[in-house]
Amino acid sequence: MSFNTKDVVLKEDRPKTLLLQKHSDYLAGYGLNKDDYEYCMTEHIRMSGIYWSLTAMELMDQTSRMPKSEIIEFITSCQDTESGGISASIGHDPHMLYTLSAVQVLAMYDRMDAVDVDGIVRFVTSLQQPDGSFFGDKWGEVDTRFSFCAVMCLSLLQKLEAINVNKAVDFVLSCMNFDGGFGSKPGSESHAGLIYCCVGTLSICKRMDALHADELAWWLCERQLPSGGLNGRPEKLPDLCYSWWVMSSLSMLNRIHWVDKNSLEEFILACQDAETGGFSDRPGDIPDPFHTLFGLAGLSLLGNSSIKLVNPTYCMPQETIDRLKLEPQVLH
Ligand code: FPP
Ligand code: ZN
Repeated sequence: MSFNTKDVVLKEDRPKTLLLQKHSDYLAGYGLNKDDYEYCMTEHIRMSGIYWSLTAMELMDQTSRMPKSEIIEFITSCQDTESGGISASIGHDPHMLYTLSAVQVLAMYDRMDAVDVDGIVRFVTSLQQPDGSFFGDKWGEVDTRFSFCAVMCLSLLQKLEAINVNKAVDFVLSCMNFDGGFGSKPGSESHAGLIYCCVGTLSICKRMDALHADELAWWLCERQLPSGGLNGRPEKLPDLCYSWWVMSSLSMLNRIHWVDKNSLEEFILACQDAETGGFSDRPGDIPDPFHTLFGLAGLSLLGNSSIKLVNPTYCMPQETIDRLKLEPQVLH
């Protein structure tokens, strides 16, 4: 029997230095032409797109290149007066994912006055279930990512006590597997993206003690492949966004040194598009704002000093988290 590791090979002519100016130009130009095919095709995730781009710009200290008043006005127009929730785009249905992205953007801009905060609190609390879990919206899908969105959103609004925090934690812990990892619901397989959501929930709720830190960190560092990149589950290809889901979790667990930082940095740099700017999921693929944020945020976690410090729990600039006096728990 042989074990066939799925991986990529880094080419000799790959980018090896950080192309900050190119990334800032890429994000500043994204969406300038509203008829652009890619821009139209991403309308259903627009609010998160704004969060990814603004956070990436913040980390590069280039926030002034984003159209601030247009963004704030857009967020105000996406709030549903009835439920209080916020949607991805004007006229779409409100959802937990986009409510969180909007709150993150408003927190970075220090403009929470642009929305009805009580409405957001009403929306998030209305989605908590008797077992402590959260629906993503009125249609009733349960997933640990919505637990994370709920606690992050309320903590940014300084309203965490509006939900039953103990029950929220109990539900997340009921999704813990034998390997120390977490899935989307009880019994679902461990997945690095959902591990970030569950560890992040415990970090905000200050219940990191409930983790099996060594088993979990071992599973996470086993995500590193010979190329230096990380995958999200065994037998999957490496993907740049997993540099964030895995490394932020390891950072909260205080075990970031369990991966080979140099080879991961080489993989992340290889995911840059030297012509257009931006990062893609794997070397040579087409860049997008999502992977651009996680490329920059991953390099920040690895200690790159030309990028601002990112907070591993909130995936936002540390200076915003400090201004809000939030102290998510990390292990020491
Ligand atoms: C992979 O998804 C990623 C996840 C499951 C985590 C998503 C996290 C959130 C929505 C919380 C908010 C995030 C931040 C940064 C504040 P996928 O569906 O692409 O998984 P796949 O790679 O297995 O297809
Ligand atoms: Zn990805």
